[in-house]
Amino acid sequence: MSTLPLQQAPAPINADDQAVVLEARDLRKHYAVKRGVFKPMATVKALDGVSFQLQAGKTLAVVGESGCGKSTLARSVTMIEPPSSGELHYDGRDVVGRSASEMKALRRTVQMVFQNPYGSLNPRKTVGSILTEPLVINTDIGKDERRARAVAMMGKVGLRPDQVDRYPHMFSGGQRQRIAIARALMLNPRVVVADEPVSALDVSIQAQVLNLMMDLQEELNLAYLFISHDLSVVRHIADAIMVMYLGKPVEHGPKDVVFARPRHPYTRILLAATPRVNPALRLERVVPKGELPSPLNPPPGCAFHKRCPYATDRCAVDVPALRPVDERLVACHYAEEMN
Ligand SMILES: Nc1ncnc2c1ncn2[C@@H]1O[C@H](COP(=O)(O)OP(=O)(O)OP(=O)(O)O)[C@@H](O)[C@H]1O
Ligand code: SF4
Ligand SMILES: [Mg+2]
Repeated sequence: MSTLPLQQAPAPINADDQAVVLEARDLRKHYAVKRGVFKPMATVKALDGVSFQLQAGKTLAVVGESGCGKSTLARSVTMIEPPSSGELHYDGRDVVGRSASEMKALRRTVQMVFQNPYGSLNPRKTVGSILTEPLVINTDIGKDERRARAVAMMGKVGLRPDQVDRYPHMFSGGQRQRIAIARALMLNPRVVVADEPVSALDVSIQAQVLNLMMDLQEELNLAYLFISHDLSVVRHIADAIMVMYLGKPVEHGPKDVVFARPRHPYTRILLAATPRVNPALRLERVVPKGELPSPLNPPPGCAFHKRCPYATDRCAVDVPALRPVDERLVACHYAEEMN
């Protein structure tokens, strides 16, 4: 057991502000699923080879349509559900395969905020006990000090300290998400994984919660893995973007590079469908053909070829590798030609 300072520990002198706090290497999560009584088990490759580095104080946004594996990635990198294979490093330490007690200490480094602030907060507990619970479980901090920290954290996330004894249902959706963010920060994590943290909120409230997250990031040097199906939400908060399709990254690079000139047809389609994009930068409107294929039976070749307006015969056969093309990684045979 250990105690934690009230504030995020100050960075050591000469610390590298750009330190890699989370690294995933070739993460995979495969689920065995039943297709029917007499049919053999099938495999859903919900996550199929995802690698990235996340630096202190930076935000990597993960985007893609429903079912592309975003929440699976969130559960894997937080070790809520360990990946099937691949490497995961928290602060340079490999976490896959550690014992439960070792994992308990490491888990503090990476905390999660869920999409639904209604479902993720226990309705029978007061805000005070929701916020102090991580301290009860993980530290030997005394009761008065725990409460003092909960009250201090409420102030940090823009909640009134006199609301500490209220229950979640007495708050609005935006306030509940502030409580969820406060809970995630109680153990001074280095990384917050936020799975669609504003998608359930009214558009007018979304900006307030995003601004709060950005302020907290700056103050605490937090790294965010920010998951969203909506590119317009990640525009302001992201430093880098990873676009996923059927469990794999198809384009991954600095936000400005990807937004200025997306090189994967799927990214182009997502961007063209984004309402708040500067009209001067808007790309021609290319409409994706058809539905997302079943991950149980992904198409051969490029998984996007049946919906891609640029597909050739080669795309139906050859799997495009994720490869560097002007400052980002992209998995398309014709990335150089996407101008
Ligand atoms: N426990 C599970 N067992 C079997 N298949 C699963 C399981 N969890 C997720 N999947 C499948 O993995 C794929 C990815 O799901 P995931 O929830 O990660 O997508 P997502 O990008 O978060 O979608 P959404 O935007 O709807 O939240 C889907 O095809 C889903 O059906
Ligand atoms: S490889 Fe072919 S099908 Fe896949 S995104 Fe590129 S052009 Fe489209
Ligand atoms: Mg999801």
